[in-house]
Amino acid sequence: MTNFKNEIAKLISNAGNLKELDLESFIEVPKDKQNGDFAFPCFRLAKELKKAPQIIAQDIKNNLELPNKYIVKAEVVGGYINFYINKELQTEEVIKSFSDNNKSEIHKYGKSEYGNGKNIIVEYSSPNIAKPFHIGHLRTTLIGNCLYRVYKYLGYNTTGINHLGDYGTQFGKMIEAYKLWGDEYDLTTDPINKMMDMYVRINDLCKKDETVLEKCRENFKLLENGNKFEVDLWNKFKDLSLAEFSRIYDVLNVKFDSYNGEAFYQDKMDEVIKILEAKGRITESKGAKIVDLEDRGISTPCIIQKSDGSSIYATRDLAAILYRARTYDFDKCLYVVAYEQNLHFKQVFEVAKDLVDEKYAKGLEHVSYGMVSLPTGKMSTREGNVIKIEELIGETIKKSEEIILQKNPNLENKEDVAKKVGVAAIVFNTLSSSNIKDQVFDWNVALNFQGETGPYIQYTYVRTRSVLEKIEHIPSVNEVNIEKLNDEYSLNIIDIIYNFENILIQVTEKNEPSILARYLIELSKAYSAFYNENKIICDDKETQNARVFLSMMVGNVLKQGGYLLGFEMPEKM
Ligand code: ARG
Repeated sequence: MTNFKNEIAKLISNAGNLKELDLESFIEVPKDKQNGDFAFPCFRLAKELKKAPQIIAQDIKNNLELPNKYIVKAEVVGGYINFYINKELQTEEVIKSFSDNNKSEIHKYGKSEYGNGKNIIVEYSSPNIAKPFHIGHLRTTLIGNCLYRVYKYLGYNTTGINHLGDYGTQFGKMIEAYKLWGDEYDLTTDPINKMMDMYVRINDLCKKDETVLEKCRENFKLLENGNKFEVDLWNKFKDLSLAEFSRIYDVLNVKFDSYNGEAFYQDKMDEVIKILEAKGRITESKGAKIVDLEDRGISTPCIIQKSDGSSIYATRDLAAILYRARTYDFDKCLYVVAYEQNLHFKQVFEVAKDLVDEKYAKGLEHVSYGMVSLPTGKMSTREGNVIKIEELIGETIKKSEEIILQKNPNLENKEDVAKKVGVAAIVFNTLSSSNIKDQVFDWNVALNFQGETGPYIQYTYVRTRSVLEKIEHIPSVNEVNIEKLNDEYSLNIIDIIYNFENILIQVTEKNEPSILARYLIELSKAYSAFYNENKIICDDKETQNARVFLSMMVGNVLKQGGYLLGFEMPEKM
């Protein structure tokens, strides 16, 4: 499809002799369509050209060779040149890109080779074994899942990693707890809560009794040395936890290419220390090995090895960077982790500069995100403040079912629809605000079919599908007369659809799923406006064909966009 920005940049460059500048990046999309489809602000040129922006705008405008195939006219308003694109060309191109598309096909609109096979790692979810999968992990799971899908769709070679928290001295404690009270707990049901319980109990005991703590340390050493009894137990904890996590991943349809967690790096940490020692970066402090980062502007040093010789969380992250650089030759390695760990990643990324080639150190990126909470008093769990995802999902699906039962009592597959609606409510609510904002999960907001929600997007999709159901024959591209799509509502939709790939690119540039979430709302609203203004099934067959085709395109983009965000569309609701 035509890159209109690029065409405008070429025009300006010829008119103003501005060849060296990256003019395309200057071009904006005006908020109000009255000001054209694109605008070129001349303010940034004022200093260099030593002229007022209005004068520069006028000078360039006078030299533009217009109209051409892509741009129909330009106007100077203040320091801006506003450009109006050839709408017929845009409409024709958008329509044509749906030519091999029909109702039943999964749509591939916007799929591209933009990423050119570059290697991207998205590390996300990464819950801790034997601990509840709580509401904070929901955000990393869903942000990561969306980024994973979008990068893949844009032609990046993408690897999704679940960096499980399956290692550390706490497992020495868990093992001790099991040795002491294992027969009191039936771990075949609700294992994570029971393991949590054991963990709390053993911690209390350790505080009171130094000899128990000593036993825990010994257990951990036995585990590290591969002693069968301890390793088997650790595996049991891990399997039980993963079984519970998998249920959540299944409902949300989240997948990973690798579950290499912290334990995987157990035998890969010595090399990290050797490399850093050889570079003279390690210093001793009270028996511990640390990397001082004062000279790099970080006042807290990064501990690499504790005084008792054991490794820590950061060491395992460093070993993972080394391993990933070698195994995946990554161009970008994204860490979707809560903002509480900002300092941790700052330290680790700084140390990584001495560990791996510059290319890799530069590719490390912390995708940080804010807190999630529920409106107070809405849901209590046995752990007090810890809100378990499984309960949240279950409750949301239950509420969706109640709403559906009210709205459409005769609907088939109610259960399946309720599941899709509930998941969409959660996914959209989680991804609609920018990563770094704290958010509240409120069912009244998330499940409002009329509000800016996942279910509203699904509802719009279902509308487009019911249009297609009403007619006998879905028109092919050749049966669409684009002149029938020149009202403002149709043109607005065409423009939004045209922008789809660009939106996906922005998602990857900023690692922000909210850009896609807002886009899907914009498209849904545009379709609602179109639907209210225009009769779709009508006597004039040409008009009907064009509008039906437009509905099909909207439905397909919503379905594809919804999938990339992380939810599915019901065909009816
Ligand atoms: N398991 C950690 C937690 O639940 C998150 C791991 C983040 N990833 C990493 N490479 N450190 O807090």
